[in-house]
Amino acid sequence: MPVGFGIVGAGMISALHADALRNSPKAELAAVCDIDRQRAEQLTGDFAPDANVYAKLDEMVNDPRVEVVNIVTPNHLHTDAVLAAAAAGKHVLCEKPPAMSLADTDRMIDACRRARCKFGIFVQCRVREPIQQMKRALEEGRFGRILRADAVMKWHRTIEYYHRDAWRSDRRSGAGVTIQHAFHYIDLLQYLMGPARAVDARMCNLAHQEVEIEDTLEASIEFAGGAGGSIVASTALWPGTDVRIELYGDQGAAIMEGAAFSLWKFKEERPEDETISRSGDADQAAAGSSPTALDSIDHQIVIDDCVDAIAEDREVMIPCRSVRPSLEMALAMYKSDKLHAPVTLPLENEGSIWLPQL
Ligand SMILES: NC(=O)c1ccc[n+]([C@@H]2O[C@H](COP(=O)([O-])OP(=O)(O)OC[C@H]3O[C@@H](n4cnc5c(N)ncnc54)[C@H](O)[C@@H]3O)[C@@H](O)[C@H]2O)c1
Repeated sequence: MPVGFGIVGAGMISALHADALRNSPKAELAAVCDIDRQRAEQLTGDFAPDANVYAKLDEMVNDPRVEVVNIVTPNHLHTDAVLAAAAAGKHVLCEKPPAMSLADTDRMIDACRRARCKFGIFVQCRVREPIQQMKRALEEGRFGRILRADAVMKWHRTIEYYHRDAWRSDRRSGAGVTIQHAFHYIDLLQYLMGPARAVDARMCNLAHQEVEIEDTLEASIEFAGGAGGSIVASTALWPGTDVRIELYGDQGAAIMEGAAFSLWKFKEERPEDETISRSGDADQAAAGSSPTALDSIDHQIVIDDCVDAIAEDREVMIPCRSVRPSLEMALAMYKSDKLHAPVTLPLENEGSIWLPQL
């Protein structure tokens, strides 16, 4: 029997979740909830006509068909939804970023732990084969001494994208290129390199002056392990290109572009390197020029893993606790931009980050 999933939030990205569930041999879409009932009906109509429709999350979490709740509401509403699902004893897979603060993230982690619920986050780029290969080679020490890790995200979003829903241009609701779009790549840097000990970030609005958010981020990062790094991320740059993740050690280097390698090179080569260098899917849609140009395969891997984690009673592949340091890095970048100065981690007084003045 497939495991029943409920989606809360039937907006722009919900079709990706519904598609992943439809393609999964292990899971099924059992229910959809949206305060806009028509959106929920549209999603079930398109993907799972037998699924139940709700306008209140409190009702959906008590649906016995629902074992896992996918949280797909705007960023500032994740915490309430996660806490409601955990209180009803449901497992949770939540969209990124986990929450708007570390304090809320800790509350959610604690609630899920106490309720013995799985709690994963959709930072789905981690599952891409080139990232998994980089991670493995890092763990084996193949890169030698790690010198740098850089992320470059030169994307394009129209002003209509920001006007579509009020939360998209409200920083305290989780808008802005840093916490919204670059979050995936801040997370990849953290996943590969470990936590940061300092960041120095500057943000600006290059091409979306009608809204009060940063559409461009430039940050340098000092990783706790000693290496340097950086991220440049923008939604202002037409036509939008594939993200690059670059890793340089004194014994090897690797670059992922989109979802495939453009470089995989080691001073000490191995016979399998040729095959590894071709891993990943060069044609996988990765949202560079449009928010919905995304392949659902990465979401499906996270969903399938959650089903297995429930059956095997183990942790999910991307537990929220592993994403917390990525949120801390993103929040530190906002603080650094506000102070016009480098910020060291761990963060103190992070609750004030979204206030007009520190
Ligand atoms: N993983 C990815 O690659 C990826 C890509 C895009 C968006 N996202 C994330 O997905 C989430 C949703 O983004 P979106 O673009 O679909 O947003 P959206 O605004 O288009 O959709 C959100 C939906 O939630 C509904 N909603 C709001 N409050 C609700 C409540 N209390 N109960 C039930 N429904 C409620 C809204 O009516 C809306 O339909 C965000 O967290 C975003 O960061 C992730």
